[in-house]
Amino acid sequence: MTAEIIDGKAIAQALRHEVARRVQALQAARGVTPGLAVVLVGEDPASEVYVRNKGAQTREAGMASFEHKLPATATQAEVLAIVARLNTDANVHGILVQLPLPPQIDAAAVLRAIDPDKDVDGFHPINVGRLVIGEPCLTPCTPTGCVLLAKTVTPKLAGLEAVVIGRSTIVGKPVAQLLLREDCTVTIAHSRTRDLPAVVRRADLIIAAAGRPLMVRGNWIKPGAIVIDVGINRVAADVAGKTRLVGDVAYDEALQVAGAITPVPGGVGPMTIACLLKNTVDAAERIRQSLAN
Ligand code: GUN
Repeated sequence: MTAEIIDGKAIAQALRHEVARRVQALQAARGVTPGLAVVLVGEDPASEVYVRNKGAQTREAGMASFEHKLPATATQAEVLAIVARLNTDANVHGILVQLPLPPQIDAAAVLRAIDPDKDVDGFHPINVGRLVIGEPCLTPCTPTGCVLLAKTVTPKLAGLEAVVIGRSTIVGKPVAQLLLREDCTVTIAHSRTRDLPAVVRRADLIIAAAGRPLMVRGNWIKPGAIVIDVGINRVAADVAGKTRLVGDVAYDEALQVAGAITPVPGGVGPMTIACLLKNTVDAAERIRQSLAN
C-alpha cells in the first residue's frame, strides 16, 4: 500500500481563498479591511523571504499589509515603541514580530508587549494560557496548519493516539495542546525519550517536529498512520555541491507504510502563512465584535 500524499499546497490555497471570502464579507458588512503588520529587525535573508511572502499573500487575500523594517542595530526601546503604536492602530488587527531577533533585543519581552487580541502568532503567554485552559484564542500558525492537514484525512481526530516528536514552544508544545483539544490521546516525545521508535509505533497520528533530518524511519510507523512532517532540513544532495530539502521523516520508507503523509516541501510549509492570514481575519472579526458590544 502506498500512502495518500497530503497536498499542503492545494489545501493552503483553498484556505487562503476562504480567508479572501471572509475579508470581502467583513468589508461589505462592516467596512472593515483586516490589516496585518509585520515587524522585521535586521537583514536575516530567510526572514526577508518570509516577510516578502507574507506581505504578498496578505495583499492577495484582500487585506492591508504593513511592514516595519528596522536596522540590525535597533534598540529594545525602538522595537517596543513600534509595537505600542501598532497595538493602538485601529487599521491593524494582527501584529507579527519576525523571529529571530538580534541578540540585544529581549524577544520574550517584545512578544509580551503585543496586544494578545492582535497576537496572530499565538506566542503571547496570555494566548498560550488560553489554549491550555480551552478558551477561544489565537493559536500558533504552524501547529494549527498541522491539525488542519490531519483533519483533511480524518475529520474527527477524537480518540486517536497522537505522538508529537519535539517539545519546542513554537511547534511541539502548542500542537500537543491543539491535539488534546481535539480529544486525542497525546504523547510528547523528545530527545530524552527512552525507546523513541517504540513510542512512535503506538501512534495513529505522528507529528514530527524534532528538526532532525530523516530521523523517523519507515519501521517506526504503524501501518495506516497519518504522518505530518514539520521538518525543513537542508542537506547535501547526491550531486556534488548541491543541497536539497528533507523533512524529519524518511519519506520514501514512510510512504510504503503510512496511510497518509505530508511531503517536504509542499506539506506543512505552505499552511503556516495561510493560517497566519486566517488568524488575522479571525482577530479582525473578534475586535470588530468587541467594539460593537
Ligand atoms: N520565524 C520563523 N517562523 C516564524 C513564525 O511563525 N513567526 C514569527 N514571528 N517568526 C518566525
